[in-house]
Amino acid sequence: MRIWCFGSINHDYVYAVDHMVLPGETILSSRRQVFLGGKGLNQAIALARAGAKVSLAGALGEEEDESVLAFLASEGIETKGVEKIPGTLTGHAIIQLDASGQNSILLYPGANHAISKAHRQRALAQGRPGDFLVLQNELNDLEELLEEGFRRGLRVCLNPSPVTSSLEALPLERLAYLILNEAEGAHLTKKQEPQEILEALAGRCPNGHIVLTLGERGALYAHQKERLSQGAVSVQAVDTTGAGDTFTGYFLAAVSRGDCVPEALKQSAHAAALAVMRPGAARSIPRAAEVDAFFTEQRRR
Ligand code: RIB
Repeated sequence: MRIWCFGSINHDYVYAVDHMVLPGETILSSRRQVFLGGKGLNQAIALARAGAKVSLAGALGEEEDESVLAFLASEGIETKGVEKIPGTLTGHAIIQLDASGQNSILLYPGANHAISKAHRQRALAQGRPGDFLVLQNELNDLEELLEEGFRRGLRVCLNPSPVTSSLEALPLERLAYLILNEAEGAHLTKKQEPQEILEALAGRCPNGHIVLTLGERGALYAHQKERLSQGAVSVQAVDTTGAGDTFTGYFLAAVSRGDCVPEALKQSAHAAALAVMRPGAARSIPRAAEVDAFFTEQRRR
């Protein structure tokens, strides 16, 4: 089975700062690094590094050279659905990163917000009923993409990140998998307590599998009457950018190949913990062998 990821591609400009810049303030950064990112690209890489067969669809600006596609090909990711959009720039993110590894992100969507209906249809026409379609919230017309995937019989998996007001109208009942963090869950449900968020989402997504990630408190899972929890893997964070994408990709790769949910949760928690110990988004995502080795090492402790 192939996993279709339709999502954003960005260049991430990461600035090391003492603290996040305040309104009206000018501060110096001590370092700038440029990485590949975008939630779509990051999740496609996490899926591929976790062992899934992945296709990425999305958009690049007209001036973009071939290096992004070459990098994706080197990761074994098929990219027929990535199109250059005339008159646009590739999306980019300006990321402030403080000494504790926390970030603050300003996104310029560029080509990610210029996806046409024809582009959506060309890309989704390649999928077969039962394939997974993995979406995030960095493309224009997300609802139409979600509905089109559902109509074609794909199992739609959504990571509703970043939060925008348009998320509230999404038909969550169409979803096979919903993977989100506490802030996204609170926005969608207007609840604050993790258990309440989970139950509210389970009500709105009655057939879906829901994973609510809680950062240093692990993750919760709900599917129909089943409830599970996964503890966090505690590590020293260097850069949390891309940790949620790593978790999402690893979880979906595992369940799509038939691993049980507790096993999938364990793998994704360990993969995300490894990702926060490294700088960058896409480049911080570990490979399956590293995750296995890390898991074994943690169990011995
Ligand atoms: O999830 C991390 C990603 O969010 C970054 O790579 C950045 O591009 C933004 O899209």
